Amino acid sequence: MIKAPVQVCPLCEGTGWKTVSAGDAIRSLNDRRVTRCDCQLRARAESLLAAARIPRRYEHCELTNYDTDFPGAHPSLAEAHFVASNFAKKCDPRGDKGLLIIGTIGTGKTHLAVGILKELIVTRGIPCLFYDYRELLKEIQNSYNSTVQTTELDVLRPVFETDVLVLDELGAVKPTEWVWDTVSLILNTRYNDNRTTIITTNFEDQPAAAVSGSLSPARAASRIETLGDRIGERMRSRLHEMCRVVTLDGTDFRQKFRSANFR
Ligand SMILES: Nc1ncnc2c1ncn2[C@@H]1O[C@H](COP(=O)(O)OP(=O)(O)OP(=O)(O)O)[C@@H](O)[C@H]1O
Ligand SMILES: [Mg+2]
Ligand SMILES: [Zn+2]
Repeated sequence: MIKAPVQVCPLCEGTGWKTVSAGDAIRSLNDRRVTRCDCQLRARAESLLAAARIPRRYEHCELTNYDTDFPGAHPSLAEAHFVASNFAKKCDPRGDKGLLIIGTIGTGKTHLAVGILKELIVTRGIPCLFYDYRELLKEIQNSYNSTVQTTELDVLRPVFETDVLVLDELGAVKPTEWVWDTVSLILNTRYNDNRTTIITTNFEDQPAAAVSGSLSPARAASRIETLGDRIGERMRSRLHEMCRVVTLDGTDFRQKFRSANFR
């Protein structure tokens, strides 16, 4: 059998370091000014992307293909895109506030969150993790099943420790005491460790029913649920300490492009 020749990077000849002009140098090796070779950065980005758990459905989402000026585009899209791009460029994942992206169905919340995450990985080499809120809670619950090998901590450790976490669809699970405890554990752990979290939600950033005054039973029943109802007032207030709010308004992008066979 003929072996394919091993590809050696022509820039660094396999050392992982390339010679640069003095201005860009970050350290000196054998008296030469060197920096990490592009092949190393690419390899790191590839492995971080593979570990980030971005669902197939959202693999195409980038900040560069987030459209903000199609006919009828709501101005909040351009504002949100501006905030997202700046955040991806400049945020310090050790201490900076994350983003709480709020909007009705199909306004592009997950697209923006995934776009930021990919930018952080590819251009800055920052470890990130994407989790759908429902999926995360399901995985934690599954870990209690004695036939499964993983423990609760196996599931939670990467969620606690990743530099930037995207928690998609916060509040989408019917609230129970266990759900509230679990979401508090996750958010408080990341908050206490000064880690950055990006959250998307369909629920309006309004207080829970108990706080929003004494509604008649009929009004209370027809009242649209809020973020406060779904994660509890205490956690909603914690979120405000952890995140800057970004609101997306407008129509459902999927409906708009349904005729063009848009997913
Ligand atoms: N402004 C946009 N430019 C380009 N594609 C968009 C835009 N907004 C949404 N999309 C696309 O439309 C689809 C739906 O968007 P997305 O899933 O991000 O919406 P969402 O607000 O997260 O919806 P949901 O409330 O259902 O979670 C995705 O395929 C996404 O890539
Ligand atoms: Mg979404
Ligand atoms: Zn190289």
